Amino acid sequence: MLEITDLAVKVNEKEILSDIDLYIDEGTTHVLLGPNGSGKSTLFMSILGFPKYKVTNGEIIFKGEDITNLSTTERVKMGIGVSFQNPPSIRGVKLKDLLKIEHHESGKELSPDMTELSNKLKFDDKFLERDVNLGFSGGEVKRSEVLQLLAQQPDFIMFDEPDSGVDIENVELLAEEVNTLLDKDKKPGLRKKSGLLITHLGYILNFVAADTAHVLMDGKIACSGNPNEILEDIRKEGFKGCVECCNLIH
Ligand SMILES: Nc1ncnc2c1ncn2[C@@H]1O[C@H](COP(=O)(O)OP(=O)(O)O)[C@@H](O)[C@H]1O
Ligand SMILES: [Mg+2]
Repeated sequence: MLEITDLAVKVNEKEILSDIDLYIDEGTTHVLLGPNGSGKSTLFMSILGFPKYKVTNGEIIFKGEDITNLSTTERVKMGIGVSFQNPPSIRGVKLKDLLKIEHHESGKELSPDMTELSNKLKFDDKFLERDVNLGFSGGEVKRSEVLQLLAQQPDFIMFDEPDSGVDIENVELLAEEVNTLLDKDKKPGLRKKSGLLITHLGYILNFVAADTAHVLMDGKIACSGNPNEILEDIRKEGFKGCVECCNLIH
């Protein structure tokens, strides 16, 4: 689904990411861990193709096609979807209308329908009339991001800290829909959707199973492997051990 090789990225003339290799197969979910400021959101934005994030080396291949120089719009049309860490408020654009556009652009059938999907995420019709993210609570912003993904049904989805600033009930609710979006209700061999779950604390991993984890340290991948083992180490010792591994590799 996604193949990143030897990627280096600059933001405002400063190199933030380097030597990034990442291979995500169809039907698998990867998790990206790492301390604040390690470059997780930068990688997310680079895969999405935001102009400010300049690729200075390497390439990003999506569904076999080199997307390194494609616009964000083109990438999204190819099937990349995202849930932002801090999405902007859009005054004058109703959530209902944004959902309509996202669903229409996807060209896919919606089942169950939008009202039912909204209700699952605890939004009533009145809420859908509100301007996107304007005055939404932290939990409402994250649920709105996931609802938009349900409307869009992308093939590869990146979630940037879907569990940050969200209470336990909301994380469980979000996780249920994240599982639906990533085909977790199907047997592993039958899954088509892939995901990259960025999480600082790993809390959402109590509810969403990941196949592989990567630790980003100072703009480089320090280690990749079994999510449970890596998380256990980080929970015990923090990211201290990751610094040593990073020094060993790079
Ligand atoms: N627009 C920018 N201009 C300059 N530096 C930036 C910009 N955006 C991010 N950075 C820097 O890139 C590094 C990685 O940030 P980020 O990707 O947000 O980390 P994370 O998501 O892991 O917390 C930080 O040192 C941050 O200050
Ligand atoms: Mg971030």
